[in-house]
Amino acid sequence: MRTRLALALAAAAVALTPAHLPAGAFPQRATAFAGRPAIAVGVAWYPEQWPEARWATDLDLMKATGFNTVRLGEFAWSRMEPAEGRFDFAWLDRAVAAAQARGFMVVLGTPTAAPPAWLTQRYPDTLRVDENGVRDRHGGRRQFSFASARYRVFARRIAGEMARRYGHHPAVVGWQVDNEIGPPSFDAEAVAAWHVFLQRRYGTIGELNRRWTTAYWSQTYDSFDQVPLRQTGQQNPGLLLDFKHFTTAIWTDYIGNQVQAIRPFIDPRMWITTNTMFWNAGFDHFALHRDLDIASWDNYIPDGRPDWVANGANHDLVRGYKRRNFWLMETQPGRVDWVPVNRALDPGQVRELAWQSVAHGADGVLYWQWRPARNGQETYHGAVLGQDGTPNPIQPEIAEVARDLTSAAPLLADTQPVARLAFLFSYDSRWAIDLQRHHAQFDPVRAFTDFYRPFRVAAQGVDVVSPDAPLAGYPLVVAPDLNVLTAGQARALAAYVRGGGHLVLGPRSGMKDDANALWPERQPGPLADLLGARVAQFYALEGKVGLQGEVAGSASIWAEALEPRARDTRTLATFTDPGGWLDGKPAIVSRKVGRGSITYVGAWLDPEAMAALATRLLADARIAPLVPDAHPDLEIAERAGAGKRVLIVINHGTASRPLAPPAGATPIAGDWQGGQIAPHGVALFRMK
Ligand code: GLA
Repeated sequence: MRTRLALALAAAAVALTPAHLPAGAFPQRATAFAGRPAIAVGVAWYPEQWPEARWATDLDLMKATGFNTVRLGEFAWSRMEPAEGRFDFAWLDRAVAAAQARGFMVVLGTPTAAPPAWLTQRYPDTLRVDENGVRDRHGGRRQFSFASARYRVFARRIAGEMARRYGHHPAVVGWQVDNEIGPPSFDAEAVAAWHVFLQRRYGTIGELNRRWTTAYWSQTYDSFDQVPLRQTGQQNPGLLLDFKHFTTAIWTDYIGNQVQAIRPFIDPRMWITTNTMFWNAGFDHFALHRDLDIASWDNYIPDGRPDWVANGANHDLVRGYKRRNFWLMETQPGRVDWVPVNRALDPGQVRELAWQSVAHGADGVLYWQWRPARNGQETYHGAVLGQDGTPNPIQPEIAEVARDLTSAAPLLADTQPVARLAFLFSYDSRWAIDLQRHHAQFDPVRAFTDFYRPFRVAAQGVDVVSPDAPLAGYPLVVAPDLNVLTAGQARALAAYVRGGGHLVLGPRSGMKDDANALWPERQPGPLADLLGARVAQFYALEGKVGLQGEVAGSASIWAEALEPRARDTRTLATFTDPGGWLDGKPAIVSRKVGRGSITYVGAWLDPEAMAALATRLLADARIAPLVPDAHPDLEIAERAGAGKRVLIVINHGTASRPLAPPAGATPIAGDWQGGQIAPHGVALFRMK
């Protein structure tokens, strides 16, 4: 039987132990609300969709569910500004006051993902235009052009009006700018901005021609205004990668516009964020978070079948945007409504996934949404209540999450996930590979996740950071497919290795520069000398090839015949490929550099070989798991800080599993009984 976390936590004596924070630990917590719970748990509420007479009932039911936070405002532009320049916040004042009266923390969203009809009707130039030149219309959302100067003015004004009104409101804790930004626009203003962007980036058209190698196919441009704005089609890879740099710049500016509107009017205790989507390829998320205080994201499991390691990788990536704890701004109460089969999560999995987000650094967990609107595009989506305003069958499980997280908040306050190594996620590399996969199955996100998987399982704590992040605190840094490598990044990585770090590069690394041009040296380009080896040739694989040596197994999808050139570069694995190009060729090589090392993995390894490689590299870097030999269904994580170390164990499987906590760990609460952790169970331990 489950021990309620709430009860057990209340009873637990909190004996603080000395801080145990590794060098890579993230600096601050994502909730700094004096006198407020350190973990927010709540829901998206759209009071504008319901009669006001119902609001009190809804808020009371939210309170009874155990929520301490509501998020509102996003999408309600036509209620806030029913006509141009005429603002009506009276209803929102009353909604926020009703939430405040019940002690809720309030997150306010700016409504700019859903412009009102009057705006786009009067100013059709604010509507986005797709790549085929078709202008969007009213009736959906995100139909604005991200490059429209006029739209910025309207967005700035509504955001500023909200900030002026609620910037010192005691219930408001944070601001969400827009909602899941993403679709670019190809309107005339965007094209003009593209030309300015290219001019700033390259200075002269001659430099653009050189970096893109436009002598190819007579692409040479005479002036910037000749360069088409394209994201698809048979275009120069330099242009297509720069399109992503352009969308990053425009979206960062779009968000910055509202941040500038809000910041002067709000208390310094309030944070500003925007909620992003999983693995969104639309812009570089590290860059986008420049002006934001915390990251937040919307974690959905569309097919209802969570892959806990892959999902955890995404949490780690989001934590890496600001290198600090984040908020889970939306997650599903059971199911979504936007895939071919919207399977509901199994009983217990909503709870398990909430704890997973916290284990990876979420300081807030908010469900989407409270109650389905009676009409509108999302009537089939999971919600806490049904359309009749009474709880859905998922509500008791969500209530349990809310109770448990609220009880655990004092323990988790000012703690951050402890990572034992870093993975580098490079948007440029992801895009460059995606633009020229060479093997249809070389999905760069899957490649990243496959690499991450055995390291996360074995090391039980990984940071995912940008290739430009400081790395000195990590004993081991893994870059699964660092296809685009700038000269500056190569210098920093070489310095990391010379400083005693262990660097691992995956296939396709060090091939391109940031204009998506081949480095003149073979891979890994500017790191080939340090490695003392290079890629002689790469091959797309139809089937598998064997691997033998210190790392044995097989590889599929991608293989590179390596060529050691320094005497002290060791071969850890060679290919077996009878009659083929790869037979007997080195597949993995490694070289010691002082107390550090650089290793190159020239293949997409199958799970067995990848696990063997991870075991070996973790041992070399002296990284040991907290809980050795844990069952693969068990996720082990640590949050530490403020003199506390908390071990969080989650059973993502459907059977009880044995769990032996580390010596000296005290069970605090949860589903750990008789040495076993229950199916979909969660257990907390305090560690010395
Ligand atoms: C996104 C949006 C929400 C809602 C959900 C449904 O995350 O931010 O407004 O549409 O999807 O899953």
